[in-house]
Amino acid sequence: MNATYPQDALAAVTHADPYPYYDALAAAQGLRFDAGLGLWIAAGAADVVAVMRHPDCRVRPLTEPVPAAIAGGAAGQVFGALVRMNDGERHAQPKLALQRALAGVDAQAARLHARRIGGRLWRDDGLASWMVEVPVSAMASLLGFADSQLPAVAAWMGEFVACLSPYSDAWQIGRAHAAALSLLAGFKELMRGAASGSLLSQVIAEAEAVGWSESHGLLANLVGLLSQTYEATAGLIGNSVLALARQPEEERSGAEDAAVLVRAVSRFDSPIQNTRRFVARACEIGGVPLLAGQTVLLVLAAANRDPRGEGREFGFGHGAHACPGQALACAFATGAMEALMTKAPPDLLRTLNWSYRRSPNARVPVFGREVGPPAG
Ligand code: HEM
Repeated sequence: MNATYPQDALAAVTHADPYPYYDALAAAQGLRFDAGLGLWIAAGAADVVAVMRHPDCRVRPLTEPVPAAIAGGAAGQVFGALVRMNDGERHAQPKLALQRALAGVDAQAARLHARRIGGRLWRDDGLASWMVEVPVSAMASLLGFADSQLPAVAAWMGEFVACLSPYSDAWQIGRAHAAALSLLAGFKELMRGAASGSLLSQVIAEAEAVGWSESHGLLANLVGLLSQTYEATAGLIGNSVLALARQPEEERSGAEDAAVLVRAVSRFDSPIQNTRRFVARACEIGGVPLLAGQTVLLVLAAANRDPRGEGREFGFGHGAHACPGQALACAFATGAMEALMTKAPPDLLRTLNWSYRRSPNARVPVFGREVGPPAG
């Protein structure tokens, strides 16, 4: 473990052990401005809730509803329609439909589904790609894609998510636009014959029930269901693998504990460590004046640990924009961990070698080749 504190709340995301730092952040009540980052920081549970509830704190800057780097292309059009990226009317109705459709998914069936897919995709030397492919494939399968289509959908999604990262270059963004077109076309085709009982047919039914009839928005949010699954659930699986590796071997009691492990990791080593809100109008929160155009970093991973948080959890957000996929994400990760526990060679957990993927908000381990004994 690295005993030094991370430099700031963004460096904490991929730091070896950011938790003593997060505890200190959460303990210092109230919003404070980090001049180095140019961001307001909200880390205590009450502060995060206050910002999330404030009507002048929005999920996107007023002046840039779609990041300039992707505006004008297909990926930007998807981004601009996502419930995650909108407030007000463009949020409420689609959110309700997605929430209702996802609430109808049987979590145990989803867990078994991910476990089956996890077993099928397992390769002893492929943990890094396995943890990414399992949840997106499980989600695509629940939505109604055939098994033969899953590798292509997972590959397009891998290219599409580059549009969500501030670190992507022009080449990656070009591929993200092309992948967005492929995914939209894939969903359009799937909608022509949506299998009854599939999650897709549930989303369509709930969209009709709430009067959400904008077809591009629907297609975009179907792509969104896959992209929301992709990185965060991979991170939940990866961080669960690390938590399992840290347990003494005699305490690893088997598959029935996978759900408990995943639940604890989703709170105490959460894959999404922070999110942002953008100040639309000058306002005051907890006596602190915020100016229009400023940004607040909500440190969810710190708020999760705040002893004054009354047990509230923030790893899946809170309030109006709270994640509607929490139960499904935990089910996928649990099924994946069960598959890993039965498939992984006995020494895998002893020989893990990893670093964290560069990201300003997601804590996702990248596993390298297993470390062998030193040569010679
Ligand atoms: C471990 C996996 C996941 C984590 C940690 C996670 C976390 C989050 C967080 C923190 C938010 C709120 C963002 C904010 O308020 O700024 C969110 C929103 C959202 N998540 Fe998840 N999520 C996960 C998996 C999923 C899955 C599997 C789905 C889809 C089935 C999903 C769908 C969504 C959607 C649609 C939103 C936007 C909700 C809104 O804006 O009202 N998420 N998620």
